[in-house]
Amino acid sequence: MATILAIETSCDETAVAIVKNRQVLSSIVSSQIELHQTYGGVVPELASRQHLEIINPCIDRAISAAGLQWQDIDAIAVTCTPGLVGALLVGMAAAKTLSIIHNKPFLGVHHLEGHIYASYLAQPELQPPFLCLLVSGGHTSSIYVKDYGKYELLGSTRDDAAGEAFDKVARLLDLGYPGGPIIDRLAQQGNPKAFQLPEGRISLPKGGYHPYDYSFSGIKTAVLRLVEQLQEQGEIPVNDVAASFQHTVAKVLTKRSVKCALDHGLDTITIGGGVAANSGLRKHLQQAAEKHNLKVYFPPLKFCTDNAAMIACAAAQHFNLGHTSSLDLNVQSRMPIDKVMQLYEHNRMF
Ligand code: KG4
Ligand code: ZN
Repeated sequence: MATILAIETSCDETAVAIVKNRQVLSSIVSSQIELHQTYGGVVPELASRQHLEIINPCIDRAISAAGLQWQDIDAIAVTCTPGLVGALLVGMAAAKTLSIIHNKPFLGVHHLEGHIYASYLAQPELQPPFLCLLVSGGHTSSIYVKDYGKYELLGSTRDDAAGEAFDKVARLLDLGYPGGPIIDRLAQQGNPKAFQLPEGRISLPKGGYHPYDYSFSGIKTAVLRLVEQLQEQGEIPVNDVAASFQHTVAKVLTKRSVKCALDHGLDTITIGGGVAANSGLRKHLQQAAEKHNLKVYFPPLKFCTDNAAMIACAAAQHFNLGHTSSLDLNVQSRMPIDKVMQLYEHNRMF
């Protein structure tokens, strides 16, 4: 039973959590949304500086909220990839320092593996294999979870991430940032069939379409053209545009995920990342799962958006398997999910 303190600073949330295997003992998340709202998106330099300001108080709060002492912690973990390099470095420096001064083992964690672990946190009996649809502001990936630490990327976006598309459509409708929750709210008052939008399919050189990959930039451009056209005609029916856009994205994500699961003989789909909060996506996926006799798990929103509990949970699993990382480990802006085992050394003595 490993008790892990983890730090997550890969983007615009400063988060620290303590997790015992799959049980969350404390989870502190300090969001920078207000800081970046003026700019309509995350400003990397501001994100790093803000992480630096508040990382230490977040660590103290996580320890006291869990009611633990340093001697109760088995290892220190940190998100080391993918993410904004300056932001990742703040968490990395803090985690290595804690590891050295408290003489604890150290583990780097892949952020996307963390998002997959949000499902393990929410569903303690969940076991691989399953399909995880990861839909956030920076990623849209269908990941085949073959075993602990073993992943195969089956499908991903060729351009914008799903959350990015929500944010861009919200911006062109002048709705504010982040756009996903606002579009979700407005869509509930609109007609999802009001406007037909393209599904963004990827053509293959030999003809036909890629079965699992996504493209959201075409849908976003189609909304832009639609809005320009509606503007000329008079008032824009914002709720109907939001509902039609959300319906199209939810339909595409659902269709490809179900195909991925069925083609690989998987009976379970889990979902993670900020867009996993989307009510339209949840509804579509639930209906499709019932139709195809698949189980589908939706972690609560607090574990879908960036948090350190999911990072600690992933680290706990690695630690239990005898994996630790070298203190020479560095941050990386990108790393494929199937390379996660490169972050670990396997020679820890029990
Ligand atoms: O996972 P996340 O917190 O951060 C990243 O790692 O990117 O995801 C943030 C993204 C934003 O693009 C936001 O607009 C989107 O998740 N989002 C939503 C909803 N809530 C957050 N998108 C659609 N519907 C929502 N309810
Ligand atoms: Zn994330």
